[in-house]
Amino acid sequence: MSILEKLQKIKAEAEESIYLQKTLHDLHQEKAKYLGKKGVMADFMKMMKDATPEERKELGKMSNDIKKAISSYIDEQKQIIEELEINAKLASETIDVTLPGKEVKRGSIHILTQVIEEIEDLFLGMGYTVEEGPEIENDEYNFEKLNLPKDHPARDMQDTFYITEESLLRTHTSPVQVRTMLRAEGKPIKIICPGKVYRRDDDDATHSHQFMQIEGLVIDKITTLSDLKGTLQEVARKMFGSDREIRLRPSYFPFTEPSVEVDVTCSNCDGKGCSMCKGTGWIEILGAGMVHRNVLEACGYNSEEYQGFAFGMGVERIAMLKHGIDDIRHFYTNDIRFLKQFK
Ligand code: PHE
Repeated sequence: MSILEKLQKIKAEAEESIYLQKTLHDLHQEKAKYLGKKGVMADFMKMMKDATPEERKELGKMSNDIKKAISSYIDEQKQIIEELEINAKLASETIDVTLPGKEVKRGSIHILTQVIEEIEDLFLGMGYTVEEGPEIENDEYNFEKLNLPKDHPARDMQDTFYITEESLLRTHTSPVQVRTMLRAEGKPIKIICPGKVYRRDDDDATHSHQFMQIEGLVIDKITTLSDLKGTLQEVARKMFGSDREIRLRPSYFPFTEPSVEVDVTCSNCDGKGCSMCKGTGWIEILGAGMVHRNVLEACGYNSEEYQGFAFGMGVERIAMLKHGIDDIRHFYTNDIRFLKQFK
């Protein structure tokens, strides 16, 4: 085989094997095999030492051409391999956008909180501020300053859980009103107090040993029963519909005089009488009255100069009437089927 034929054979072999390579690593080894310092072409150049200068010149040119050719095979195959690798990577990382997503479960605001926030919104719009106080109260703020001295018979209606003789779970949010009056030091007040309260009651469909109240208190120099009535009319319309009417019935609370019970026309039968309103057309929603002068005086107000009105409602009762809920215990038993109806 002539040298020329040998060179042609090397070229042909190189071409065939380079185009068979599948990875950059193998291709690199192939490059070393042909073009490296100890590679085929280097060996070939060594063999030329015996040739005449004429031949050497000729062979040198040929071998250079062949090295260039081999280099170009390698470059070309390198591009092919790189392209294949990118395509494989893209294929393996493809995201199937049609797969169903993972459901993110969302909770909801408890229906009692929703009702409280609705009532708060209404009163904030009328210029009231929201006050809160502790659930563990002392006898003085829960009863005594509210014209309910120890041994007052009306305490029977609000028996509670005692921690000590003087310290108890509050039976209403009225002690927040006491605290606010004492802090206001004889100045006008316009507040509502939402919060949890407790009573020593046997739980049934309409009684719970814990429940929520919202009470309101307005104290100023001229504050009348008609202001109270107008305010409660607003509450009734906001909570039960714009065509509701209210009526005041005389009642008794130790801390208000006169005291009233407030009814709203039944939204179920529009006042005609149905099972929800027990045929009367009216539904009781809250208690209210003009702040008793003993309370004003006990809390630092001159009752000759200042008057006030107060009202208190049970949040559960409002929610039950609004949403047709038949058992107060639903609010506190954490049954998800109940809770998720009010999303
Ligand atoms: N504090 C009273 C109760 O819980 C409600 C009420 C508040 C009544 C203000 C009249 C005036 O029974």
